Amino acid sequence: MNYRFAYAIGFHPWEDAADDTPFVEKVAELLDREEQGRQPPYGQALDLGCGSAIWGIQLAQRGWQVTGIDIVEKALRRAHGRVRDAGVDMRLIHGDVTDLRAASVGSGFLLVLDTGTFHGLTDPQRVAVGREIDAVAAPDATVLLTVWPRRRRPLIRGANRDEVEAAFPGWRITDVEPTFFHLPKPVELVMQPDEHWYRLRRE
Ligand SMILES: C[S@@+](CC[C@H](N)C(=O)[O-])C[C@H]1O[C@@H](n2cnc3c(N)ncnc32)[C@H](O)[C@@H]1O
Repeated sequence: MNYRFAYAIGFHPWEDAADDTPFVEKVAELLDREEQGRQPPYGQALDLGCGSAIWGIQLAQRGWQVTGIDIVEKALRRAHGRVRDAGVDMRLIHGDVTDLRAASVGSGFLLVLDTGTFHGLTDPQRVAVGREIDAVAAPDATVLLTVWPRRRRPLIRGANRDEVEAAFPGWRITDVEPTFFHLPKPVELVMQPDEHWYRLRRE
């Protein structure tokens, strides 16, 4: 997917997930799990490929210290607007998720959240993302990734479990759960979402 072009023409259907109640409730359930037994502030979170910062803002509202990174400037402009409107603190960085250290995102992230970026990357990019997350995440960090299974379909490459594992040596997949992401019916027939949340922790 050419995200620069997509944002330029105003094509960003992934943002509709914010109005997809089952998806939103599942995100809340996953975050509840990470926050269980603790009080805010919860620590640093990284919104990987943050787009217009919909989910990073939710993290900030829940009490995480959030950094978002995206490679598309127009997405970040939208993100700045949303962050301002929401009245939260969220650091936004223009950079490549395959080189988080070069982008100076910082380190010690207790939570890395990816809604839709990893599964669109090439195999070498995925390996690079895994290596970079490993470098910037805290020892007891959790990584949450939305992943569409690899299948022949337009726009999205998708990834299988073994491809997630290959990108994250030294990490263990603890849970794979449906995201409940929906698309309008005709689009759903073509795209067959079947998206899952992958939760990873260090071995
Ligand atoms: C499917 S969109 C999801 C955006 C956002 N996470 C959301 O759910 O609204 C994927 C995002 O990843 C970003 N992206 C793709 N490749 C990237 C890369 N190499 N470095 C940084 N961001 C990237 C795109 O610009 C896009 O905003």
